[in-house]
Amino acid sequence: MTRSPARRAAYRREADLARAAFAAGDLDAAFARLERAHVLGQPWAGPHSWTHWMMLRIGWRRRDGREVRGQVLRLAAGGVLSWLGRAPTGNTGGANVHPERPMPPPADLAPLV
Ligand SMILES: [Fe+2]
Repeated sequence: MTRSPARRAAYRREADLARAAFAAGDLDAAFARLERAHVLGQPWAGPHSWTHWMMLRIGWRRRDGREVRGQVLRLAAGGVLSWLGRAPTGNTGGANVHPERPMPPPADLAPLV
């Protein structure tokens, strides 16, 4: 799992876009950006956990119990997986995907991960 400065910068871009979409109330766009931020941020415990925290907030806003439960678990475990270097490559982080399943990253992000 690479921890390049380019990857970290790309994470910040996606996180900023997610934050802006969330603030504007566009939860679909915010979630999509968080999925990309999750793919990029997994090597770092803090950024990784932040994506799950924001997904939890979106789940709460949507009154989506499955997402909330899934994100509480991911929030508890995600940072530890990052710290151990065991986060699954390409995983998008939502409750709709298994938290330990590697996934093919989006084409434009693949060179960074
Ligand atoms: Fe995760």
